[in-house]
Amino acid sequence: MTAAAPQAAARRIDLCAADEVPPGTMKMCDVDDEMVLVVNLDGRFHATQGVCSHQYFELDNGFLTGDAVTCALHLSRFELATGDALDPPAELPLAVYPVVVEGGRVLIDVPAGPLEVNR
Ligand code: FES
Repeated sequence: MTAAAPQAAARRIDLCAADEVPPGTMKMCDVDDEMVLVVNLDGRFHATQGVCSHQYFELDNGFLTGDAVTCALHLSRFELATGDALDPPAELPLAVYPVVVEGGRVLIDVPAGPLEVNR
């Protein structure tokens, strides 16, 4: 049996207060000069890259449709849990970041280093 490769140390990033993102809304947060979209779906928080994977367009200008966010520029939908692109023209998924809500704050746990973003 071989040992697993060492994992990069994780870092926890504070995005915003949970009450800044009421159910059914989304908010853009800034992390290391990248944008992260925080979405509250009926109390379940999701965090994804904030810019569409198709072209440069900020997803907080789009809208929530069920469990997905729809980019307002060309109307691709992205599943919030997985980041998967559900419709063309987008093909790449959005990067998604695991969310923890603690002490009324929305946090993400990501590997050390640059934030993963698909473009
Ligand atoms: S920029 Fe988002 S679908 Fe084209």
